[in-house]
Amino acid sequence: MDSDSVFASVVRAPEDPILGVTVAYNKDTSPNKLNLGVGAYRTEEGKPLVLNVVRKAEQHLVNDQSQIKEYLPIVGLADFNKLSAKLIFGADSPAIQQNRVTTVQCLSGTGSLRVGAEFLAKHYHQRTIYIPTPTWGNHPKIFNLAGLSVKTYRYYDPATRGLNFQGLLEDLGAAPSGAIVLLHACAHNPTGVDPTLEQWELIRQLMRSKGLLPFFDSAYQGFASGNLDADAQPVRTFVADGGECLAAQSYAKNMGLYGERVGALSIVCKTQDVASRVESQLKLVIRPMYSNPPIHGASIVATILKDSNMYNEWTVELKAMADRIISMRQQLYDALSAKGTPGDWSHIIKQIGMFTFTGLNSEQVAFMTKEYHIYMTSDGRISMAGLSSRTVPHLTDAIHAAVTRFD
Ligand code: LMR
Repeated sequence: MDSDSVFASVVRAPEDPILGVTVAYNKDTSPNKLNLGVGAYRTEEGKPLVLNVVRKAEQHLVNDQSQIKEYLPIVGLADFNKLSAKLIFGADSPAIQQNRVTTVQCLSGTGSLRVGAEFLAKHYHQRTIYIPTPTWGNHPKIFNLAGLSVKTYRYYDPATRGLNFQGLLEDLGAAPSGAIVLLHACAHNPTGVDPTLEQWELIRQLMRSKGLLPFFDSAYQGFASGNLDADAQPVRTFVADGGECLAAQSYAKNMGLYGERVGALSIVCKTQDVASRVESQLKLVIRPMYSNPPIHGASIVATILKDSNMYNEWTVELKAMADRIISMRQQLYDALSAKGTPGDWSHIIKQIGMFTFTGLNSEQVAFMTKEYHIYMTSDGRISMAGLSSRTVPHLTDAIHAAVTRFD
């Protein structure tokens, strides 16, 4: 009997709005089903991809008898941390040279954000974080649970399907001095809309003049443009001014290490001494949370980042993934144009990164799922990385039917 259980009063929670899409997709028996929900790269054949360079690094690790399975330090693998900071801030970053950066290995992007948020909730004087509207669905949950108070700033303009730059400046301009601001480093999720470098510069000036603290979420370095340095440029301009910031990095997408849960949190400080005290407190956040991070994924990343041949091989494979996504944008746009689907679809080729924010509403999405077995988040976001030349016509038919039926 249910009522005998001490947990009888537990209510069923809804599925996660993103990962729950995969749960529903897995239950669908249609041969035409298509998962454009979660942001996970697929090949032209619709298969998950393990990069060749990752296989190579793993082989190297297996053959290396000096590799052991001891606990890592609380802050993770030292090489991995150094190389991750270099990857995002640039090899010649003065902040790194002056030892003003502390980097800790965390459980991918989410874990890095959570550790950073817990640290801020405990040690930073301003407990309010501003996140863009819309943003990745997990952001508000991560920050709320860490004890920060979450407010929003305008970001996306549904009318132009582009950036609401004026709204963004007004909202950040009205934020209390010292507030934390979550910024997507590149390839904004879910909109695929990024500020231009000129707009980034204005955001930087405004934030620095008000003492707002930038917290970058960098989940797509290399995925937006296909170039690791270009995608890190906004972060680097904030670091170049000598100010402080936080950055959460994930290797899920750009190295395809989704399930390895490998990422890093860096905190750029004013001085080496502050950075080392900050690190000592990060250890106190991490130790009771998960003690220390896993070794395998970080070893793969460190192996690739420290070997120039493997690094180059990675950049080629990364660029191929980014290029395939860009070509999917063009193919979908061309197919909708050829079909004469009502509406302006140019945002599909203007937006960047893994996602297109289609503008389809939840009713249209539900229709596409029911009638066409196409799975996507209810906000109309589609993962371009889940699309292939073979499935573009099916998606085109579904979008066409959805917009002509419910306009
Ligand atoms: C996404 O937005 O689809 C990805 O970041 C995966 C996730 O964890 O939600």
